[in-house]
Amino acid sequence: MLNKLSWKVASIFFIFIVIVEVLLFSVLYTNLVSDQVDEVLDGLLARGNSHRDVLEKSFDDITLNHVALMETEAATDVIITNNEGEILSKSTAATDEITHLIKDNDYQNTRHIGRVIEEKWRSAPYIATLSPIVVEGEMMGHVYMFSPSDSVQQVVHELTRQFIIIGLFTVLLTIITLFILTRFLTLPLLHLKQTTERMSMGETNISLEMTKRKDELGELAVAIQTLARDLEHLKNERNDFLANIAHELRTPLTYIKGYADIASRSSLTSKDREHYLKIIKEESEQLTMLVKNLFALAKMDQNQFSILPEQVKLCDSLDKVINRLHPVFEEKEVRLELECPEEVEGWVDPERFQQVILNLLDNALKHSTAGGTIQVSSNKKEGRAVVKVRDEGSGIPSEELPFIFDRLYRVDKSRSRASGGSGLGLAIVKEIIRLHSGQISVESSLGNGTTFIIDLPGGENNG
Ligand SMILES: Nc1ncnc2c1ncn2[C@@H]1O[C@H](COP(=O)(O)OP(=O)(O)O)[C@@H](O)[C@H]1O
Ligand SMILES: [Mg+2]
Repeated sequence: MLNKLSWKVASIFFIFIVIVEVLLFSVLYTNLVSDQVDEVLDGLLARGNSHRDVLEKSFDDITLNHVALMETEAATDVIITNNEGEILSKSTAATDEITHLIKDNDYQNTRHIGRVIEEKWRSAPYIATLSPIVVEGEMMGHVYMFSPSDSVQQVVHELTRQFIIIGLFTVLLTIITLFILTRFLTLPLLHLKQTTERMSMGETNISLEMTKRKDELGELAVAIQTLARDLEHLKNERNDFLANIAHELRTPLTYIKGYADIASRSSLTSKDREHYLKIIKEESEQLTMLVKNLFALAKMDQNQFSILPEQVKLCDSLDKVINRLHPVFEEKEVRLELECPEEVEGWVDPERFQQVILNLLDNALKHSTAGGTIQVSSNKKEGRAVVKVRDEGSGIPSEELPFIFDRLYRVDKSRSRASGGSGLGLAIVKEIIRLHSGQISVESSLGNGTTFIIDLPGGENNG
């Protein structure tokens, strides 16, 4: 069945084309008809003139009769009158109409070449012409030629018949052309619509033949196919994410339940019980942290996570974080250095900025060994602020680098429990930096260390 769009397109085109066709055909028709009628009238006048020419040569009874005789054999008729309008010779009976025509004539205005005196072939029974007979400058009489209007009507009728046939044929051809054209245009659209409907029902494994087309429909098909792939990717990602969250939640809960069972045994010494309760507390704290981080990320996804940027002297801010962390670093015998060669200002939310640095330093410390150094630096670059966090730790395998900012992604899955990470830290860092219109990148070499580079909008005085 034809669908709505094709109907619309087809009917608009059809109306337009038919209007053009009707216009062209009627102009052509009128011209052809008037040409045909002129031809018949000219022929009649020429015949009358040639009779007149003969009569001018010998204006006598023999010739008069001879002319009348000639016309009795032809479809046309002649009536010859003298100057007073009396009939001298005729090839047909003078009917009322004929007598009328002869009487009504204004001879004075008729030139020697003659003229048409009746051309209403539609209404009058005859068409007629008049040729004056002039011998030696004296008007001798008139040759009237008559032809039944039927003959003209027949010619016109035949013409009309042909026009109707051609017209119908043209309209038919127009309809067929439009039908093919709209099918060509709307069938693919219909197909695309069905495809997107299938997509909205959840089907994402879609391959469209139409992507091979080199036109706009082909482009649309490519766009839809890309959309389907993106959807598929998102769906997989969401499933993975949910599976990961379930796993992340289940593990600490299993620990908590296990240790709670042990702690409730009555045979336990109070020292042991305290130990297990401490583990339970730690696990639940970690769980709380995980849920908090997930919630923060969800808020960032919905753009409900607000940052309040202001002019911040980055060195001071970094110094504060470092001072706070010093005891932890000292305990692990890792040196922490701050390098601030110049005053750098950033347009950042101070609290979020510190959260980012804390996360990066936490990672750096986790992956460093005793005796290593972690270096934090800030610099200006083309009016922007660049902060680097470099460690000399284990490094990240290059094939893992593209994924470390993904949610719940950890390079070493087994170590996480001991180190307490859930793989959300860098995802949150990346989101916070994005909200600041900044960028974060990472360089790492396995065994040699890792550097995180943050690019942030600079403050007004960075110039
Ligand atoms: N400085 C670093 N050195 C080595 N590996 C790192 C470093 N920072 C992050 N990573 C890797 O990236 C992963 C993701 O980091 P993150 O999102 O902070 O998760 P978490 O710290 O909870 O494991 C970490 O599990 C770790 O494998
Ligand atoms: Mg981390």
